[in-house]
Amino acid sequence: VPVTYTAMVMAGPGELPRPEERAVPEPAPGQALVRLRASSMNYHDLVNLLGLIKGPWPRVPMTDGCGEVAAIGDGVRGLAVGDRVIVAFHPLWLDGPPTPAAKRECPGDTGDGCLQQYLCVAANALIKVPAHLTDLEAATLPCAGVTAWSALRSGGVQPGDVVVAMGTGGVSLFVVQLAKANGATVVLTSSSDDKLTIGKSLGADHLINYRRDPEWYTSVRELTNGRGADLVVDVGGPDTLGKAVLATRMGGYVAIVGVLSGVGAAEVPVSYAMTRNIRLEGITVGSVADHAALCRAMSASALRPHISHTLAWDQMDEAMRVLQANEHVGKIAITIP
Ligand SMILES: NC(=O)c1ccc[n+]([C@@H]2O[C@H](COP(=O)([O-])OP(=O)(O)OC[C@H]3O[C@@H](n4cnc5c(N)ncnc54)[C@H](OP(=O)(O)O)[C@@H]3O)[C@@H](O)[C@H]2O)c1
Repeated sequence: VPVTYTAMVMAGPGELPRPEERAVPEPAPGQALVRLRASSMNYHDLVNLLGLIKGPWPRVPMTDGCGEVAAIGDGVRGLAVGDRVIVAFHPLWLDGPPTPAAKRECPGDTGDGCLQQYLCVAANALIKVPAHLTDLEAATLPCAGVTAWSALRSGGVQPGDVVVAMGTGGVSLFVVQLAKANGATVVLTSSSDDKLTIGKSLGADHLINYRRDPEWYTSVRELTNGRGADLVVDVGGPDTLGKAVLATRMGGYVAIVGVLSGVGAAEVPVSYAMTRNIRLEGITVGSVADHAALCRAMSASALRPHISHTLAWDQMDEAMRVLQANEHVGKIAITIP
């Protein structure tokens, strides 16, 4: 372990991360020092990089991180130097339902995140990397992967269910892969036929271009002989939540995950949802236990995340541009030198 290392630091809201030399910290009791090798870009990180998330300044951005254990503090069990690990999105949310206390911390928002070479993390908030994944692949799991996993688990996905994934961003392509691995039939929507072709190669059974077919919920109903989907993972928010409800069967489930069309109010067909006993539930990533369960599932099915772009940590402006232009498919991975 060297004496100093480089962190990419945002000086204030909206400032691009710049390199800063810092002293390598010693892990406190119960902590591990992680040598980070990779991160990944989420819509959430874009919001953070634009300076729209409050919190301490200056700070190191990026919630997602993967690397190897470089040192361990007193009292740490079950981890050894050299173990490849992933940093949890909510390090205090170990298991069970969400609480304000469990969700209080988020690396990159409430304190320094993962765009740095070393980070001390509570050892119980580290998840071992599935052996078949590279560091770059594993670094795409903490936010997007765990969210997709939680939405499918909370919706109780079963073999034979019809699941709708919306767009071909990070969360949605994990929904495609995980739902398919659970034996579901997957409907994928996208603005682009080329992106839909990639979604098909990852397991999507039915493809809908939502630009050509803005009333795609009607197509979902037709595909299911009028019944509707068992589970819809909504990432669009105001422009799509109402359509998500209309695409869902009686007794089905809509996971409220994203706000890609804005943070305003959504128009939801209330009587439709009520008379058809449709459940709507907000999802916020998941616990460390959810993350570990996702890793077990990824290992069991040998799933690999889809990464369309790999950028260096000093290319965060390019990562923001690619995400805002929707040029990516699945994940944008970030290398840490
Ligand atoms: N609640 C949580 O815990 C949680 C966790 C992770 C993410 N999120 C949220 O979920 C959303 C997706 O996150 P992400 O990281 O997966 O984003 P992302 O990778 O940036 O996804 C962007 C893609 O979504 C599609 N899209 C964009 N606008 C859309 C719209 N109005 N309707 C339907 N599809 C649209 C586009 O795909 P096509 O070009 O293929 O159409 C676009 O490329 C964001 O709002 C994010 O904040 C929430």
